[in-house]
Order: sequence, then C-alpha cells, then structure tokens
Amino acid sequence: MSFRGKRVWITGASSGIGAALAEAFAAEGARLVLSGRRRDALAQVAARVQPDAAILPFDATDWAALPRVAAEAGVIDVLVNNAGISQRSLAVDTRPEVYRTIVETDLLAPIWLTQLVLPGMAARRSGHIIGISSVAGRIGTVLRTGYCAAKHGLIGYLDALRAEVEQAYGISVTTVLPGSVRTRVAANALLADGSARGASDPNIEAGMDPAECARRILAGIAAGEREILVAQGAEAHAAALRFSDPERLFDMLAREGARLAAEREQGGRPEPAPVSRTIA
Ligand SMILES: NC(=O)c1ccc[n+]([C@@H]2O[C@H](COP(=O)([O-])OP(=O)(O)OC[C@H]3O[C@@H](n4cnc5c(N)ncnc54)[C@H](OP(=O)(O)O)[C@@H]3O)[C@@H](O)[C@H]2O)c1
Repeated sequence: MSFRGKRVWITGASSGIGAALAEAFAAEGARLVLSGRRRDALAQVAARVQPDAAILPFDATDWAALPRVAAEAGVIDVLVNNAGISQRSLAVDTRPEVYRTIVETDLLAPIWLTQLVLPGMAARRSGHIIGISSVAGRIGTVLRTGYCAAKHGLIGYLDALRAEVEQAYGISVTTVLPGSVRTRVAANALLADGSARGASDPNIEAGMDPAECARRILAGIAAGEREILVAQGAEAHAAALRFSDPERLFDMLAREGARLAAEREQGGRPEPAPVSRTIA
C-alpha cells in the first residue's frame, strides 16, 4: 500500500506517537493534515516534517465543533485517530468527570471523526481508517479503568466497522495496540481528581522510541495486518495471555490491584510498578 500523494489526517500530531507518525507518513510522500489542541506544537512538527502541511487545531472533547473541523480537513484518504489521554488512578477514588474526559477523547471523538469522513470514503470506494488503541485495549490493567474502557471500546468499534466497510466499500481499517512508548502519555495522564499526573512512570520511561513505534505501524500496514501489536517483553506476553490463559492473567493483575489498595490504605499515592514485576 502506497501513501504517496494521499491526504493523511493525524490527530494528536503535536507530540509523541502522532508526531512520529507524521514524520513517517511524510517520508512516504503523504500530504499531511495535523491536529491537536496546541497550534504552536503542531506548527513545530510541520516545520520539521512537512512545512506545507495543513494545521487544524481542535479539542477532541468539543463535540459540536467536529463537523466543522472535518469539513475544513477536506477530502481525506487516511484518518489516523491517535489523539488520546491516559489515566493513573484507582476506580474507587476517581471522579465521574475523569471518565467522561477519557471516554470522550479516546473513544467518542475517534468514532465521530470516523463517521464524518466515512460517507466520502464509501462514495469513493476507497479510504483507510487507523485507530491507535493500546495493549490496555486488550487487557484490563490497574489504575486505568476509564482508559481501558475507552481503548477496549475503540477495538470493538473498529472491528465491527471493518466487517461493514472492508469488502463492501474497499475501506481498510487498522487497529494498533502499542505497549509502552516513551512519550508524555504518563505525565499527561489524569489522576483521580482530573489533574494531570505531571510526571512520567517507569514503564513509559523504559518504553519504545516513538519513531520505532511509527516504523512498526507502517511496516504492519505494508504487510496488510489489520491489527498491529507494537509491544515487547512482559507487555506482549500479557496481550497473548488474554487469549491463551486469561485466568492466569486475571490472577496476576488482581495481585497488583491488592498491592495498590494496600498502598492507598496506608495513605500513599498508588504508583504503577514495572510491568515485568506484575506479569510473569
Ligand atoms: N505512549 C504509550 O505508551 C502509549 C501506549 C499505548 C497507546 N498509546 C496511545 O497513543 C496515542 C498517542 O499518545 P502518546 O503516547 O503520543 O501521548 P502524548 O505525547 O501525550 O500525545 C497525546 C496527543 O493527543 C493529543 N490530545 C490529547 N487530548 C486531546 C484533546 N482533548 N483534543 C485534541 N487532542 C488531544 C495531544 O495534543 P495536544 O496536547 O496538542 O492537545 C497529543 O498530541 C494515544 O491515543 C495513547 O492513548 C500510547
């Protein structure tokens, strides 16, 4: 599959995986539309990877603005639903607004943006929808009840969409499940009260380089994979266990939940442990 000359709209292009995907798609000759909330950060990415890229800032939680934003994006060949926000809080403590923000950003906005570009793709009998879910979209892990709900939901939406549009309209649907990638995701993650965590965590710091993640995503697409798992070590093992031995996986994760609950009861802030310590 060639992206040369294709108009590729990437959400969450202002940092991390989205910025790395912008660079990778630009290298393939795609024409970029870059979105995120921060215009300055988008302009910096554009200056580096494709100075004449279109910059289209918007807030994914601003539901009412999305039809206008999609109209401004123009005819889109490839939509990369990448913008997202994570979580680092126990369910027992977490405010309902945190769930709303995460589900709106990570699930409802990707669904709505897809719905907005879909009629054009169906009429042209071509197009490609890419969604960045997560290993947390396959396994339900601690400190991320809202994030896991949204990322599991995104996999379900994309699987069902693929069934409807792949053969019927020639539209490709690719779901990506990254493990830890070294970005601002943990620092930007929401705590129980809705504030940003503000600091990274050991799993993300030990994670894959975003450029390597983007390279693997494009390699998976080139190989025709509909679901691309970009994970290594204990995280890849956990993703496999969800199908091969779910009971064992649930036991390991529940032990980690018990450790965090004890930490909370002693008045400490529940902190994620290295995945390699949780998953054996
Ligand atoms: N890094 C990982 O370990 C990892 C693992 C699995 C999946 N993922 C997923 O990969 C995607 C990219 O995350 P990342 O790791 O690159 O994290 P990141 O560096 O925090 O980037 C998140 C991106 O999403 C955008 N965004 C967040 N909230 C938004 C909103 N309300 N409206 C519009 N844009 C918004 C941000 O742009 P602005 O700040 O400019 O709005 C930013 O460009 C996310 O969906 C994340 O869940 C990441």
